Amino acid sequence: MSIRKRIGIFGGTFDPIHQAHLTLGEIAYRQFGLDEIWFMPSKQPPHKLDKPVSPVEHRFAMVRLATADTPYFRCSGFELGLPGKSYTANTLTTLNQLYPDAQFYFIMGGDSLFALEEWYQPEIIMKQAVILAAVRENHDTFKMQEQIEYLSDKYEADIRLLYAPLMDVSSSDIRRLLRQGKDISEMLCEPVERYIRDQGLYTDKYMGTMAEVKISSLPETTVSEIASGLKATLKPHRYEHTLNVAVMARQLAVASGIDPEKAYLAGLLHDSAKSYTDEELLALCRLRNIEITEAELRAPYLLHAKYGAWMAEYVYGIDDPEICDAIRCHTTGAPGMNTLEKVIFVADYLEPGRNQAPHLHILRKLAEKDLDMTVHRILQDTLEYLQEKNAQIDPKTQETYRWISESIAEKGE
Ligand SMILES: [Fe+2]
Ligand SMILES: [Fe+2]
Repeated sequence: MSIRKRIGIFGGTFDPIHQAHLTLGEIAYRQFGLDEIWFMPSKQPPHKLDKPVSPVEHRFAMVRLATADTPYFRCSGFELGLPGKSYTANTLTTLNQLYPDAQFYFIMGGDSLFALEEWYQPEIIMKQAVILAAVRENHDTFKMQEQIEYLSDKYEADIRLLYAPLMDVSSSDIRRLLRQGKDISEMLCEPVERYIRDQGLYTDKYMGTMAEVKISSLPETTVSEIASGLKATLKPHRYEHTLNVAVMARQLAVASGIDPEKAYLAGLLHDSAKSYTDEELLALCRLRNIEITEAELRAPYLLHAKYGAWMAEYVYGIDDPEICDAIRCHTTGAPGMNTLEKVIFVADYLEPGRNQAPHLHILRKLAEKDLDMTVHRILQDTLEYLQEKNAQIDPKTQETYRWISESIAEKGE
């Protein structure tokens, strides 16, 4: 008999994640012999639409920091990439479809047992996961047992009590104390506390200016779901280009000895932000605090690379920084670029649908043998073309060209 992986799902706003969250995750892990606990920051949660919640990138970054040192804790962007609003029923259904060999344990506050029937599709929630209801010493466990019996009978649910210690910590208390300048070091793990201070979160100014961030409603997680999300948002010729780049990137990755599937994924997502207009790209980058250079201000379409990297992480749930970096520098290249970055840069220029640039035939042959020389020739051709047309040149393209020239010269010595 195969042993199913036992995964605890701990969803929440995590604004910010604090010690009581981490302790509860730890207790669930031990009490039920789970294999992993996935902390899953939600999008703007449905029941908090009237209250401002910090931008998802901050909440996600804090959960990532808080879970980094515990091998069985995982920070999961799963829910961020699901279409529509955050509904537990949808999340659990999709998780079960994607991980048929796993048994999911959904962690919730004990009080929520009494409101569970008001949630969206409660019968689905109770069918898709074992419910772990956190009880504290001050809870009326007799009443809770009665409610568990009632729900178990009605929905054939498997509900168990998770015995949590009484910890007087809540995210709203922490936000209030931070605004008052009080010491909250006992309530947060050190990297999260440092992040909050470095980013200036929860100050009066921050709370006043906090923008309500909406995440695009796109599917995620499996490659086919990413592809269907892209197909839905990109123009047909752009989508075709995307698939071509992904396939060519995979081939070049094999020839260069790096992970072909990673290259495929980066190729697939490299132009994901191409569906936005220049104005939208400028506005979105400002909203997410993504730096905009002089060259990008003059030619905002360049921002599709940086914003595409953001989308890969927060919309499509890609937690591999190398994939995001390759997307980020795919238009200009970057001095010091690594093999994956070169592969995406080259595949974008040479994919079989391209037919305008000079030397394509020669370059396609060269790419399989010498990636550096190919990057060099592409940059050279690009700069010549732009100079001839008297068009704007991003200084980053020139810097990358100088760097690759030097690095080839060094290798030749
Ligand atoms: Fe592009
Ligand atoms: Fe492209």
